[in-house]
Amino acid sequence: MKNIVLTGFMGTGKTTVGKILAKKLNREFVDTDAIIEERLGATISEIFKKIGEPKFREFETQTIALISRLQNYVISCGGGTVVNPVNVENLNKNGIIVNLYASADHILKRIGEDDTRPLIKQMLNPFDQIKKLLAQRQKAYEQCSFAVNTEDKTPEQVAEEILKKLPQTVFS
Ligand code: S3P
Repeated sequence: MKNIVLTGFMGTGKTTVGKILAKKLNREFVDTDAIIEERLGATISEIFKKIGEPKFREFETQTIALISRLQNYVISCGGGTVVNPVNVENLNKNGIIVNLYASADHILKRIGEDDTRPLIKQMLNPFDQIKKLLAQRQKAYEQCSFAVNTEDKTPEQVAEEILKKLPQTVFS
């Protein structure tokens, strides 16, 4: 059976929703950032600081290539994963990619105080940075099979909405 892959900007709830979805479907759950952290023995923030974003992206692409071979999983990936077409191609081989989204205001409320996101935390103006990255990534997020708005919804509600929208092909 096909993997269900959750993507979308930082703070849209991919990991929390992914775990709920996996439980509901009795599937295994995997978070690609957690795998990278485990492999490198460092947090995402430390990895960005020590080796920089380009090297992080290389590890991300390697990890996605491995994870894409799985079947019947719920996979949560980082907010920048689908920017690289190689990752999208791999994830699409045996999965359906779902985009979780929210406005820049909502995202700021969710991650503004969070210091685990290196792409946002060092910025003088996090709101501008969020808007800039959202605009840069819009096309990449639009390639997903379908999208779910996460604004003012609980992770449970988002998971239910994904379940309703999932095509039958995911289960065959
Ligand atoms: C990133 C999102 C993060 C993590 C890294 C880069 C991005 O994952 O992969 O900090 O480029 O949007 P989350 O979306 O799970 O926070």
